[in-house]
Amino acid sequence: MIRPILRLGAAHLQAPASSVAAITPEIDTLVTDMIETMYAAPGIGLAAPQIGVSLRIFVIDLSVGRDPKALFTMINPEWVERDGMQLEEEGCLSLPGFTATVPRPTHAVVRGWNRQGEEHTVEGNGLLARALQHEMDHLDGKLFVDRLRGIKRDLIVRKVRKLTRAGQW
Ligand code: NI
Repeated sequence: MIRPILRLGAAHLQAPASSVAAITPEIDTLVTDMIETMYAAPGIGLAAPQIGVSLRIFVIDLSVGRDPKALFTMINPEWVERDGMQLEEEGCLSLPGFTATVPRPTHAVVRGWNRQGEEHTVEGNGLLARALQHEMDHLDGKLFVDRLRGIKRDLIVRKVRKLTRAGQW
């Protein structure tokens, strides 16, 4: 089931998410919904807090459904490695219409459970390293705007406030 994606201003997006205790049928359904919602958007990643569920789960598929091997699920992910620094344009499904240049690692390794509850490790460079850091941030209640410096962040936040007042957010 495709679920509505929360936008900047929603409380779930600003709260650290809780660990998943066990893989249950409810968790499995949640992961299915997250994948459907990510593809429908369309996007290359989605974290559970973005659909109002404060659990440490995200899905990533850089191919947006074109390559079945590109899709993976991370439950209770932890950092193994992070290094380097890249500056690229980035967006978020919770901030439609906005992008910014965000500093991110060039190389990242994350370990967590797959949707069967088996441990797996994902290593990424470039865009995948960026996506891993972006989704890990969602689990800690952070959006890409929180990685921006003062003026850039304020500009986006102010525009969102204006849109909210106009009933367009
Ligand atoms: Ni995002």
